[in-house]
Amino acid sequence: RSVMLHHPSRIFGAGRINSAGFDLTDEETLARIEAARDVAIPDAGPLVAGEASGQTVAVRNPATGEDLAKVTEADAACVASAIDAARAWQAPVSERAAILRRVADLYEENFGPFFAVLAKEAGKSQLDAVGELREAVDFLRYYAAQAEEQDPIPRGIFAAISPWNFPLAIFTGQISAALAAGNGVIAKPAEQTPLVAAIAVRLMHEAGVPRDVLQLLPGQGETVGAALTSNPKIAGVAFTGSTETAKMIRRAMAENLDPHAPLIAETGGLNAMIVDSTALPEQATRDIIASAFQSAGQRCSALRCLYVQEDVADGLIAMIKGAMDELSLGDPWVLSTDVGPVIDAEAQADIAEYIAKAEAEGRVLHKLDAPAQGHFIAPTLIKVSGIADLEREVFGPVLHVATYRAEDIEKVYAAINATGYGLTAGLHSRIDSRVQEVSDALHVGNLYVNRNQIGAVVGSQPFGGEGLSGTGPKAGGPLYLTRFARAPDAPSKE
Ligand code: NAD
Ligand code: ALA
Repeated sequence: RSVMLHHPSRIFGAGRINSAGFDLTDEETLARIEAARDVAIPDAGPLVAGEASGQTVAVRNPATGEDLAKVTEADAACVASAIDAARAWQAPVSERAAILRRVADLYEENFGPFFAVLAKEAGKSQLDAVGELREAVDFLRYYAAQAEEQDPIPRGIFAAISPWNFPLAIFTGQISAALAAGNGVIAKPAEQTPLVAAIAVRLMHEAGVPRDVLQLLPGQGETVGAALTSNPKIAGVAFTGSTETAKMIRRAMAENLDPHAPLIAETGGLNAMIVDSTALPEQATRDIIASAFQSAGQRCSALRCLYVQEDVADGLIAMIKGAMDELSLGDPWVLSTDVGPVIDAEAQADIAEYIAKAEAEGRVLHKLDAPAQGHFIAPTLIKVSGIADLEREVFGPVLHVATYRAEDIEKVYAAINATGYGLTAGLHSRIDSRVQEVSDALHVGNLYVNRNQIGAVVGSQPFGGEGLSGTGPKAGGPLYLTRFARAPDAPSKE
């Protein structure tokens, strides 16, 4: 279990330093970001060493609902051709690490185009884009350093299947771990975000990753994803997305792949925070707002159910409502925007229906107004009696709040554990012994104390859950590469 008590900023160690990020108060940085506003949208289609083929589909801008670009999604023939051409990365570990570090440098140099495409394609605010690029760069340098330390033995060809909510950071994290360990990679980005993936893979090729070692297959999960995860030439799968999809992949792998091929799955969560009567209300309010509403609540780590001790509940809920009123919703490209759109029309309709049901039941405590154009959902606060009322992960800016009596705290722990998920949890308390008690009681991967519960930092806060939330090992931690590598005496698939 990782228990986080502080906000690490730049982490040194293992021969590297975390990215300094980008200063959004620096005029030169802002000018470079502004200059990228109308960046040419990249061609995005399969980047394969074999024969590319597929059909053209539209990618939409979630902030406007309008078409942004046309991309070619791979078809079955293209998947087969990519797998035929794929090979592991035979370069020595020092060369692989040097190339991954070069990729990190290229990523940092290209921050303007990345920010523009992250805003247009994924609806990322500039603050979110800074965090996303930093994390991607940190993964590259961290896994390069880890590989040099561990000198892993590759397994063969990995399928890397990623979600739209971190289309650069998670996409890069999966690929860089597999490559650092010397594997070949076939990467399938989420269908909503093929453009940022295309920029990233082009930079990886430019830095020196061979084109048959890293291939990109944009396309649908049910076709491209399913074809990859049921092909016996695939030696392992790195997947981040919903728990339901992870189950489908597990079944496909069990039927078709080597029975010992690893699935590294990072999935969803029903994440709680407990605020007791000793918490500092201003600090708790700030951290609740960030945990629930930053990235429009579209983080697997996001706070879904807040438990407030009833003695302080009225005051804290009033402060949360006041802080919600200060949030600015709208165009993600505007620097002052706090909450951008949700990813697409389907997500918007699903979350809106959920909120409408809660409204009909008289459980909505507070709700903002959302812009009429584009796929926006207004941050909403919903009353529940406990986390058991949440039937599923609602992946947007919706915060549930429950109150508890001090003597019932054990019941709160039991209810959180009973969800079966175990990704993040938060605690606001000034009782030292409670930190240990909550750490012992809750079955979660990452517990954050007196701070927000999002934005794990590579190398300092290894990130990943247990139970329905993931297989482990944690991303950005020292054990991650071991799952991409074979034990020294196991036979190679190559
Ligand atoms: P998703 O499961 O719908 O899709 C994820 C990826 O899987 C996409 O690339 C999709 O095309 C692919 N896919 C879909 N069906 C497939 C199939 N049958 N075979 C192979 N691949 C298939 O998830 P999403 O909606 O893109 O992302 C949101 C979910 O991801 C949330 O549940 C969130 O909690 C989770 N998530 C988890 C983490 C984590 O680190 N634990 C991080 C980010 C997101
Ligand atoms: N690593 C991301 C976070 O911690 C998902 O929010």
